Amino acid sequence: MTAVQSYQDTLQTLSEASVHQHFDAFLDIDWDNPAYAIDPHDERWILPEADVLGRHAWYRGLPRDEQIRIGLYRQAQICKVGLQFEQILIAGLMNFSFNLPNGSPEFRYSTHEATEECHHTQMFQEFVNRSGQDVGGGSRLFRFLAPFLPLAAKWLPFGFFFGVLAGEEPIDHVQKTVLRAGDDMHPLLQRIMQIHVAEEARHIGFAHQYLEHQAPKLGRVDRAILSVAVPLIMRWLCDEILKPTAKARKDMGIPRSVVKDIYWDLPESRKMLRDLFGDVRMLAEDTGMMNPVSRRVWALMRIDGRSSRFRSEPASAAA
Ligand SMILES: [Fe+2]
Ligand SMILES: [Fe+2]
Repeated sequence: MTAVQSYQDTLQTLSEASVHQHFDAFLDIDWDNPAYAIDPHDERWILPEADVLGRHAWYRGLPRDEQIRIGLYRQAQICKVGLQFEQILIAGLMNFSFNLPNGSPEFRYSTHEATEECHHTQMFQEFVNRSGQDVGGGSRLFRFLAPFLPLAAKWLPFGFFFGVLAGEEPIDHVQKTVLRAGDDMHPLLQRIMQIHVAEEARHIGFAHQYLEHQAPKLGRVDRAILSVAVPLIMRWLCDEILKPTAKARKDMGIPRSVVKDIYWDLPESRKMLRDLFGDVRMLAEDTGMMNPVSRRVWALMRIDGRSSRFRSEPASAAA
């Protein structure tokens, strides 16, 4: 089987999986189930040890009602940033697929992905609404650039799909860590995360496939520029998604020094930052994005380290 055939087969498999296993934001989540109600005094909103803020000494030393208040705000804020990122992704997927030739396997899969992301934006927004938290989502810069970022999907699809991974990999990594930790989670949030992790696996798979397929077609100059751009995009979008914005920091009342500790001064934070990108480093190796210059940029961005040997290799083994 040629590489092209196997690429097309993989996209076909991903597309069929989207037909047979997909979730509707309002049919598949029992929003009005009393067990799913959001009580702002529920102790289950206390952030778990698996959360970087949740395990910080400052947070652990707070009174319980403050831990609960901050925990609920933080979950809503993560959902809001996530859904804004997904809105950019949906717009990008439309730009990407607009001029694809008839019969293109990318057309079908990218529209499946957009459909799923629409449901994610609905489920995340519904969670935000029900949480009663006035969260703003991304930083000013991120929200200012939001209308322009999807254009990259048309003009620079290779860079765009690396950007997609910059958003999807950290969120996926964080959600999987929280789910694996198995703490006493609020069942509504748990349901949302389970749905999300299940569908993200396909999206991430598609981005990896697309990039591996396109990489050999890149010219030398494009490859050189992209190799340096990739670690910059990764780090920028990772910070946009994970780091509290000025508004979020103020609303939650987190001291600046604590934010600095967590993002990313503490040794365990640095390790986590590196761990987030084990799979992306593997992909960067496979797509010829690693060279002596770009390796230095990965190191400067503090996201260097050993690459995963296979996708979703547990971080303790990868880094
Ligand atoms: Fe999503
Ligand atoms: Fe996704």
